[in-house]
Amino acid sequence: MTDITGKLSDVVTSVPPSAIRRFFDLANEMKGNVISLSIGEPDFVTPWNIREAGINSLREGYTHYSPNSGYLEARQSICDYINRRYGVPYSAKDEILITVGGSEGLDLVARALINPGDEVIVVEPCFVAYKATVMFAHGVPVVVSTKEENDYKLLPEELEAAITDKTKYMILGYPSNPTGSVMTYEELCGIRDVLMKHPDIVVISDELYCELNYLTDKPASLIQFPELRDRVIMINGFSKSYAMTGWRIGYSVGPKPLIAAMTKIHQYCIMSSPSTSQFAVIEAAANGDSCIEEMRNEYNHRRRVLLKGLADAGLKCFTPYGAFYAFPSIEGLGLSSDEFCERFLLEKKVAIVPGKAFGECGEGHVRISYAASIEDIKEAVIRLNDFVQELKKGK
Ligand SMILES: Cc1ncc(COP(=O)(O)O)c(C=O)c1O
Repeated sequence: MTDITGKLSDVVTSVPPSAIRRFFDLANEMKGNVISLSIGEPDFVTPWNIREAGINSLREGYTHYSPNSGYLEARQSICDYINRRYGVPYSAKDEILITVGGSEGLDLVARALINPGDEVIVVEPCFVAYKATVMFAHGVPVVVSTKEENDYKLLPEELEAAITDKTKYMILGYPSNPTGSVMTYEELCGIRDVLMKHPDIVVISDELYCELNYLTDKPASLIQFPELRDRVIMINGFSKSYAMTGWRIGYSVGPKPLIAAMTKIHQYCIMSSPSTSQFAVIEAAANGDSCIEEMRNEYNHRRRVLLKGLADAGLKCFTPYGAFYAFPSIEGLGLSSDEFCERFLLEKKVAIVPGKAFGECGEGHVRISYAASIEDIKEAVIRLNDFVQELKKGK
């Protein structure tokens, strides 16, 4: 018999599976009253007008491949949305690619830019795919660990210190998964200043949670600096803000040559993003603002309930102003983040994710998603309080 495991590529073998899925799957296998606050997925169903646009496209017979980079109408609708929200014009013709979720954009960018051995600065703690996509493309991730005392924001001097002559690009994601940290326009100016000293570095800004910002209704982004326009690419999508995870639709906007290179890979490997989803997105980008706002208000309410519950349980937590996660500290309780989450799940039947899943600097923390019903959040914090008190008593 062939040992197929031995045939797997070294790089694939070296990348560990995502710890988020592990806890989600464990929770699904358990019987009884299990609450999952482990996965980054809205509990809302996609708003009806958006679903209807998808359904209507099927009725009308749009069941075919779309152009490789997406239907022009969908690209235009997204470019109009970006211009409305960020005040930055992109050409629907050649500065945007519609992808299979933001995830595909992260993969394409790595494959389009990296030569073996190139370094990529990854700002941690961060979404689990950043390092993995770099490694799959034979790049070398160089981690910058942001700190709780700096509200998990990237400081200009931290970026400067990580740059070498091998740096190909940097990737950052704000509002942040897992911390909920948000960077303001003024703070991004500091990052812009460092980048101006290093004109060869490409910048990938993952803004999947741009609409889930509880500080301001105006998202700030590195795409807003005209002086960086020739080397910033924004990865974005509809999964989080519009509750469209299952539609698998996202987009990348940026300089024409990079979009062209990404489109080439997409052409060979994916062909085109789902047509039905593209019709839904035309509606979402044009007429989705009010439903985004309703969901944002509800998340904000849940965020406050969760933060109060964490404070009641005696867990110190940096105040998150974006996305739908809290990242409390579990230091002093005598357990690693892995042990904490495993025991919390087994003993109290609540699934959350160890901070270490998002990078070494996430150790000592856990990620709790509040994209869940208010009842589940309230019950989860009661169980968390019990668990923490038992740990403190040394049970
Ligand atoms: C920061 C961040 N970026 C990108 C993604 C990918 O999202 P999708 O592929 O569903 O658009 C996620 C999903 O959790 C995320 O948290």
